[in-house]
Amino acid sequence: RADVVIAIDGPSGVGKSTVAKRLAERLGYRYVDSGALYRAVGWAAQAAGVPFEAGALAEWMTRVSLKLTFAKRHSELWASEVWIDGQCVTSKLQGETVGAAASAVATVPAIRQVITSLLRGVHGQQEDESVAGVVMEGRDIGTDVFPDATVKFFLDASIEARSQRRFQEMQRRGQSVTLSRVMEAVAARDARDRSREVAPLVPSSDAHVIDSTNLTIDVVVERMLSKIRL
Ligand code: C5P
Repeated sequence: RADVVIAIDGPSGVGKSTVAKRLAERLGYRYVDSGALYRAVGWAAQAAGVPFEAGALAEWMTRVSLKLTFAKRHSELWASEVWIDGQCVTSKLQGETVGAAASAVATVPAIRQVITSLLRGVHGQQEDESVAGVVMEGRDIGTDVFPDATVKFFLDASIEARSQRRFQEMQRRGQSVTLSRVMEAVAARDARDRSREVAPLVPSSDAHVIDSTNLTIDVVVERMLSKIRL
């Protein structure tokens, strides 16, 4: 079926991207990182010197052209790429600074509207006829973007576990950080994502909630596959 949507939501640092990519690979589906769109907008707004205030951001957004395409980059996986004003920015969006900017612009309803409609558009878009579905990760995919998604997951983990993973990842990249600073940033982003008025981070009532605090990635992926293949 060409219309299968697997939604994976959860807080930052929970391992959604890794799990979502693995799942998409296993199923032969496309992979969409919805956070990359919020990151692209946050990054571009910062680069353009737009004041981080709802009115100014909403006005600036009307003049920005945001696009989502798919490419096979380093693997057989069709993965989403983000374009802003004609520039592909997918590779510029890592890091906690862009993450914080993303979560700030994500509170602006006009910005959420633009991104949500782009994400919904993915449904019919098809580069390769053999690809039957899409795995989309984010914060509001099962609640707001695709309330009728085929299968929904909410991936969670303790704040300690998520901060520890982020910290190790940053250390591997050679960034000098302390665990307590990482935990502060993760907690701040959590609070903003969970408490915002529009599309806050909450599990959809029909989502399979998986707590990955003490689970390996492989186990999480197998659990998800068992729910999808029922
Ligand atoms: O998942 P990622 O860390 O890339 O997301 C960056 C930020 O974008 C999140 O903290 C959240 O505020 C926002 N976001 C969102 N809805 C989504 C995906 C991301 O509000 N579906």
